[in-house]
Amino acid sequence: MVEGGVPLQGSVEVSGAKNAALPVVAAALLAEGDHLVRNVPDLADVSTLCRLLRHMGCRTERVPGPRRALSVHVPGSVLPEAPYDLVKTMRASVVVLGPLVARWGVARVSLPGGCAIGARPIDQHLKGLAALGAEIRLEHGYVYASVPAGRLRGAVFTFDGVTVTGTENVLMAAVLARGVSVLRNCAREPEVKDLADALAGMGACIEGAGTDEIRIAGVEALRPAHHAVIADRIEAGTFLVAGALPGGDVTVRGCVPAHLEALIEKLRAVGADVRELTDGLRVIGNGRARPVDVRTAPHPGFPTDMQAQIMVLLALADGSSRITETVFENRFMHVQELIRLGADVTVEGKTALVRGVSRLSGAPVMASDLRASAALVLAGLAAQGVTEIQRVYHLDRGYERIEEKLAPLGARIRRVKA
Ligand code: EPZ
Repeated sequence: MVEGGVPLQGSVEVSGAKNAALPVVAAALLAEGDHLVRNVPDLADVSTLCRLLRHMGCRTERVPGPRRALSVHVPGSVLPEAPYDLVKTMRASVVVLGPLVARWGVARVSLPGGCAIGARPIDQHLKGLAALGAEIRLEHGYVYASVPAGRLRGAVFTFDGVTVTGTENVLMAAVLARGVSVLRNCAREPEVKDLADALAGMGACIEGAGTDEIRIAGVEALRPAHHAVIADRIEAGTFLVAGALPGGDVTVRGCVPAHLEALIEKLRAVGADVRELTDGLRVIGNGRARPVDVRTAPHPGFPTDMQAQIMVLLALADGSSRITETVFENRFMHVQELIRLGADVTVEGKTALVRGVSRLSGAPVMASDLRASAALVLAGLAAQGVTEIQRVYHLDRGYERIEEKLAPLGARIRRVKA
């Protein structure tokens, strides 16, 4: 339940990045022994991945203390499968595929199936693994992978399209392949670079992570990971947008400004005052936002995971903005819900025309996917009156107790049993 009309002011600490923690924890499968991953957020998706690793025969447990650490014990051999009932709740489970094929030469991983925001195929993951010598068969909704030669071999592979977890899966497979691999048209997201840093700490030889060409010299074996994942730039961006709303003044501690350049440019373009601090960012709203066009793109472009959130800000701007979603084919589910709150948005294909209104008014709304639900929280905070957001489990997949983080900023927000 969100009672709006109160501008957010104050400071909030950002958690570790969900989209860095998931591939780094999956990378533990690449080396036998005891791994320690720090700054791991306490999220439903992380719990799901831990459940999957335990299903395979690993042990995972949270280490009490301030470092938000997760310990993972990986035995000499595991059950190399990811069953449908686990993968369907979290598509990102597919990132166990590369490590399983690289380390044990066999994997049975459920196809993730689509989700609210799009079909989300994994054809690029499979093409990349095949280029490294894996034999891939799709049957009964599962990917069956094997390596007839016994061990993957290095290869040159160019992705047909930029894919974050596709790059991560193939990168994790290449680090144990025999010989050198060159991966082209890779995703350049900071989370890909963070995974490469974790793998390097395990003994992998990787150059170019974070650029569109990654070179890997395969090694015989890796040692356990000891890595602290980067801050969550999308959680940070979500709170920064709140600061850009009229009367807002939000400081997000622990985030990395260099990971948020495209968002910072847009926040400055709408008229907000954005200040880079030694340990984060501060955004001060400056009255009504000015309209600005936004086009999502792979990093370093404007992140698709921030599209719904920026739409809330532009829904209250003093003019019309165009938002074009180029990454996913169906990532405008939040539009109908924002319209219920009084926004004036029309969608034509990949572009939403957002005509700014002077105010939003609270109403019951339905969360549909992780980032859309975060946008509904922002809209509820900006609206006059009370907004009831249903299906908040979507929120908990990517935000650690968001109501506890927003309350110190003045947000009147509480979780109630439906
Ligand atoms: C990652 O998903 C993130 N998830 C997503 O964050 C994020 O929205 C997305 O990257 C884009 O930045 C994790 O990192 C766990 P993609 P991913 O493969 O890797 C198409 C969130 O909110 N594609 O980069 O699944 C695909 O359909 C989540 O935290 C293929 O066609 O995204 C999409 O249109 C949501 N074939 C586009 O590429 C493939 O083999 C980008 O997808 C793979 C992808």
